Amino acid sequence: MDDSLKPSRRAFLRGSAAVAAGTVAGGAAAQGAPDPLITELQDWASFTGVGVDETPYGLPIQFERDVVRRNVPWLTASPISSINFTPIHALDGTITPQGCAFERHHSGAIELSKADYRLMINGLVDRPLVFTYEDLERFPRENHVYFCECAANTGMEWAGSQLNGAQFTHGMIHNMEYTGIPLRTLLQEAGADMSADKWVYVEGADASSNGRSIPMEKALDDVLVAFKANGEALRMEHGYPVRLVVPGWEGNMWVKWLRRIEITDMAVESREETSKYTDVYEDGVARKWTWVMDAKSVITSPSPQMPITHGTGPLVISGLAWSGHGKITRVDVSTDGGISWQTARLGKQGDSKALTRFYLDTEWDGSPMLLQSRAMDETGYVQPTKDQLREVRGENGVYHNNCIQTWFVNEEGIAENVEVS
Ligand code: MTE
Ligand code: CO
Repeated sequence: MDDSLKPSRRAFLRGSAAVAAGTVAGGAAAQGAPDPLITELQDWASFTGVGVDETPYGLPIQFERDVVRRNVPWLTASPISSINFTPIHALDGTITPQGCAFERHHSGAIELSKADYRLMINGLVDRPLVFTYEDLERFPRENHVYFCECAANTGMEWAGSQLNGAQFTHGMIHNMEYTGIPLRTLLQEAGADMSADKWVYVEGADASSNGRSIPMEKALDDVLVAFKANGEALRMEHGYPVRLVVPGWEGNMWVKWLRRIEITDMAVESREETSKYTDVYEDGVARKWTWVMDAKSVITSPSPQMPITHGTGPLVISGLAWSGHGKITRVDVSTDGGISWQTARLGKQGDSKALTRFYLDTEWDGSPMLLQSRAMDETGYVQPTKDQLREVRGENGVYHNNCIQTWFVNEEGIAENVEVS
């Protein structure tokens, strides 16, 4: 480069940097000090980058290496029958990348090839059938975005606020676009008895089998036998090559490595639908089956893992809302622990039984906040407070906790999990 050109180019850039910095409200504007990132030629512009032959399958850049699933070792006896959590605090939009979408296994994730895959339909059917993976690919398929939430999500909140981070309190959820065959298509193929009083028992190929009974009405409605998520094959940990998608219903029913579908006269009452995933009230009586996940929301930022680092001034409060009963119609945000509420902006109109992103574009004056969000769905249902939920359900609960969550944000912008009553 002609040296005589350099000074004038730098002078121009320095001038524009000062203007840009001046527009940032409350920002630490570089008063006159030249920003070398603007004024100096950087290495990444001086040398060539990485060739296309080095990234056959792209992974997040090293600077994003903290945006990963995490588990909490003391929660379970072994990582084989355990859970890890989606880093929802660090994501935006609504789609969960497969690589960081939570996993929940009862006997570990299994490696099952398409060639070894078989799906059997038996029981009350005219033609018991066994499908190969290739057989399934020949049925007409559909695409739908749905959330999958483990019934145990937010379960530790029954006993107080023990886990400090949206990832840990609310990260047993993911939201993907599934490609699959309506279950009803396969039931028709087998000539299943589809009367309303019949049940569909589904089980997986893993050691736990995770068998669950689904009432016929739901099986014929929107259940999918899915083999793709977000456009690509399911990951091993999410049930490759085929899993069940049971929209809006508790994650436990979303059987992975799906191997058998049996039409039955009544619910099988397996372990997973009796001693587990059942809600026990204060008086010891258990509520029989809680399938639908009620409306719920959480602020993902700011949150304990996402403190406010930019000081006072414009603040984007953001979070996720969802309902197993349909669409999210409104989300309110409170900064004073539920005394007053402001209606948040939805990132886009909510999809049925899928995550909805909400934003409250606000100003922060540096005073402490008690942040809460409250979701409403198309049935008119309003997400309850912790107190309201405990009043009805007692404190024996593990599952199905959809209470309003509170984060305390101090003057420094640090957030922590607290309870208000
Ligand atoms: N299916 C099988 N075969 N084995 C399992 O352990 N876990 C269930 C369900 N399906 C499970 C299973 C539970 S409790 C949940 S919450 C979801 O899968 C979790 O799905 P994910 O691992 O894709 O997040
Ligand atoms: Co679960």
